Amino acid sequence: MNNSPIGVFDSGYGGLTVLSELVKTLPGYDFLYLGDNARTPYGTRSFEVVYEYTLQCVKYLFSQNCPLVIIACNTASAKALRNIQQLDLPKIAPDRRVLGVIRPSVEKVAGITLNGHVGVLGTSGTVASESYPIELQKWSGGKVVSTVQEACPMWVPIVENNEIGTEGAEYFIKKNIENILRKDKDLDTLVLGCTHYPLLIDSIIKYVPKNINILQQGEITAEKLKEYLIRHPEIENKLTKNATLQFLTTESAENFNGKAEVFMGHKVEAGHVHL
Ligand code: DGL
Repeated sequence: MNNSPIGVFDSGYGGLTVLSELVKTLPGYDFLYLGDNARTPYGTRSFEVVYEYTLQCVKYLFSQNCPLVIIACNTASAKALRNIQQLDLPKIAPDRRVLGVIRPSVEKVAGITLNGHVGVLGTSGTVASESYPIELQKWSGGKVVSTVQEACPMWVPIVENNEIGTEGAEYFIKKNIENILRKDKDLDTLVLGCTHYPLLIDSIIKYVPKNINILQQGEITAEKLKEYLIRHPEIENKLTKNATLQFLTTESAENFNGKAEVFMGHKVEAGHVHL
């Protein structure tokens, strides 16, 4: 079968929360997921390293015939996407596209915030990059008047180590949420700016007042991608529609399969790739 799938990239497993929503919203399309599990996490790495790793992974997905790559990782979207779009794509693949998760979230926030007070929870890397405040300022059409952020460095390890729902996990989730609520008492929208955080939603909602909207990116990215494909038939026409779903990991495939099944809710058989 000659596939030209939508490539979905993440530093590890987290992007599977985005992938599963993409598959639900665009069920006929082919998808190829690449998790850089051997080098995860990206959240604590430098700008240069995240850019280098992300570009390598995007190039690999291009070599696998992907006309379009979604960077499902917030850290990589924050630190690498702009350079890839502006510096690399024109040279290496001018007819292909790479999209991230920050812009779709920002557009959604602009559509739902009533008082313009927004909070963003993310990895240390995403927070330090200031990508959310900058993009919210730029793309919200003046609707966002204040953005506060909180780095939650323990949340990814909680998910990765299957500590969801434990006493220790609750401690860190409560602490970070109390911190961000303290930074702006008028918050009306809270963005879960990291792929892993939707898996902590049952704990998160316990500590967030009911009047605050909590944005999860999987659904938003899927909804925005669907709209993008309608607006860009030149990319849409290149995508094959055999409803296949393939997985690749830079770690051992066996390790990947076990955890990926938890994220996807069904059996996964990944291939190993050495970059
Ligand atoms: N995928 C990353 C993100 O969304 C979280 C995991 C990591 O730090 O690599 O920011």
